[in-house]
Amino acid sequence: MDANSAIGVFDSGLGGLTVVKELIERLPHEHIVYYGDTARVPYGTKSKESIVEFSHENTEILLNRKVKMIVVACNSSSSYAINSLKKKYELPILGVIEPGASAAAEQTRNNRIGVIATSATVKSGQYARHIQRRNQRAEVISKACPLFVPLVEEGWFDDPATRQIARRYLGELKQADVDTVILGCTHYPLLRDVIQRTMGRDVLLVDSAREVAQRVQRILHDKKLTRARGQGRHKFYVSDKPQEFGRIAQNFLGQSIKAVRI
Ligand code: DGL
Repeated sequence: MDANSAIGVFDSGLGGLTVVKELIERLPHEHIVYYGDTARVPYGTKSKESIVEFSHENTEILLNRKVKMIVVACNSSSSYAINSLKKKYELPILGVIEPGASAAAEQTRNNRIGVIATSATVKSGQYARHIQRRNQRAEVISKACPLFVPLVEEGWFDDPATRQIARRYLGELKQADVDTVILGCTHYPLLRDVIQRTMGRDVLLVDSAREVAQRVQRILHDKKLTRARGQGRHKFYVSDKPQEFGRIAQNFLGQSIKAVRI
């Protein structure tokens, strides 16, 4: 593998495209290979054991494509599998938890941070652990918001049902007076507007995808793996329903995808 190899990104489905979008914006010269495990999505409701097993399989699939680093775009995978992946493989592997947690820990002013995520991510306690490692005074209030994922997949970004569910999920965080909320799931950046309106405009929303793209840039630079010129090529693979992936992907990526392969 060298600078011309692609960055590998995997997710449980198509939500990880929010990370790809940020990567393309920040690193336009880089080739990217994306793998979405659409046959087994969602991960956020599954057990730790299943999530770890699937994450290792996804990593092997990307390694077969000779990627130079791997971004685990899925928060649920990052919560449970990042340590065992790093232990097993030698190439750089980056998850989405630590970059988002660090940003929130540094940017909060009242040390009250909300984390919204899938049930698996909340149960793992990883966001809270990373935040408190960075900022011992921080108090973390976590809330699983499982209905947000299907709402996003339906494309109901600004629907009365979405607004009502957001009010119900986020009420606790508002009451807890958090000044910062981590969007701890790949799908939630697409609900940014509804979440911002529900929480109030003074609340800072931290999107892990942006932090991750910055981190990838730094890692490639440090490892002398940056591809410095030319247009990056982007390839997309899924484990099921490629046509459907291509259709919904536009919402996540902000551009259409020409070919999705199995
Ligand atoms: N990609 C998942 C995550 O970020 C959300 C969808 C799922 O539950 O698989 O946790």
